[in-house]
Amino acid sequence: MTSPSPSVRERLADELEAARARTLLLTDHDDPVLLRQHTPLLSPLVWDLAHIGQQEDLWLLRAGDPRRQGLLPPDVESLYDAFTHPRAGRARLPLLPPVEARSFCHEVRGRVLDRLEGLGPDDDPFDFAMVVSHEQQHDETMLQALALRPGPPLLGTGEPLPPGRPGLAGTSVLVPGGPFVLGVDATTEPFSLDNERPAHRVELPAFRIGRVPVTNAEYAAFVADGGYRTPRWWSTRGWEHRIAAGLERPHFWAADGTRTRFGTVEDLPPDEPVQHVTFFEAEAYAAWAGARLPTELEWEKAATWDPAAGRRRRFPWGEADPTPGVANLGGTALRPAPVGAYPAGASAYGVEQLMGDVWEWTSSPFVPWPGFRPMLYADYSAPFFGGDYRVLRGGAWSVAPSILRPSFRNWDHPIRRQIFSGIRLAWDA
Ligand SMILES: [Fe+2]
Repeated sequence: MTSPSPSVRERLADELEAARARTLLLTDHDDPVLLRQHTPLLSPLVWDLAHIGQQEDLWLLRAGDPRRQGLLPPDVESLYDAFTHPRAGRARLPLLPPVEARSFCHEVRGRVLDRLEGLGPDDDPFDFAMVVSHEQQHDETMLQALALRPGPPLLGTGEPLPPGRPGLAGTSVLVPGGPFVLGVDATTEPFSLDNERPAHRVELPAFRIGRVPVTNAEYAAFVADGGYRTPRWWSTRGWEHRIAAGLERPHFWAADGTRTRFGTVEDLPPDEPVQHVTFFEAEAYAAWAGARLPTELEWEKAATWDPAAGRRRRFPWGEADPTPGVANLGGTALRPAPVGAYPAGASAYGVEQLMGDVWEWTSSPFVPWPGFRPMLYADYSAPFFGGDYRVLRGGAWSVAPSILRPSFRNWDHPIRRQIFSGIRLAWDA
């Protein structure tokens, strides 16, 4: 193990700081907003807040050993165990009030920064990056809760985004058959999570993939064409869910062509990627459009493989970290960018907007790569392998750029749509 250089320590300190600034911004509301359970699908924000501190205390101050005494008394700490308390019941727990949750997080962070400063030559800084990723992922779920909160806007309407380019919706590119490298290793991506590893060679047949995600206008045509009343576009399970849940259109859409976005009612922007659809709706749309969803292997090849160089790129556009010029990330836009907004973010195959904007449903169940080994937080991935989940790729506008890689794998139940989920189509070649 090599000693973390001062620059790695500085970078991790900056990322811890950035994650905390975002957490505090997203929880800078009156107590009733933080204490209320806005949906049974998600925790009250005050639970997320103290859970962020509790996990940081566990992983960075106690090396993940819950038997060691943390800063909270054991009976209080146990309230923040995600595996013990289902989300729907968390508002009824005797949670720390917001002011105490904030000061607990602050206290933990002070000690964590001391530990980071004192990292020695044999210390691996991975656990710090893992905790940054955890906090940023909770910030994204807090955005989901705030989107579902009724009442006037708390977050405004979002930062400006670059304009789109016309003529891209519905177009596709060919990805010729052949091998590529799926996944990453610690040597190239030291902060990658366990389910992204190890890198291994995979052979895929040729396929076509959408140049950009499916837009609101395209999806509205499916709705207008009776897509929600035509069982043949839907899988058996998908149709059963459509009926049982009464789905008529994407979440937050109204029948009059408007949508509600973080409390603001506005006309649906036609060229923006559709979001807030279930896997079942994505699958039905694809069938109606004469297409299918990509597998996550196809998605990752289209995003990372450079066929001319015969090697994998770190990001679709190359080796450089994401900037606002290549992808809509970071959570401040509060919406996806119109299709065509990021020509400089295209992959070697010419596929655009793979990173950011919307999480893209794939047809793949969540399984380990061959040679999988669990990380320090052993229950992050392994308990979910083989369950009733589908993998989503690419991150949404809501994801922090510092935690996202093209190998990053998100997974959720096929009926979920409070997430910032969208659609990219694929076809057999
Ligand atoms: Fe968590």
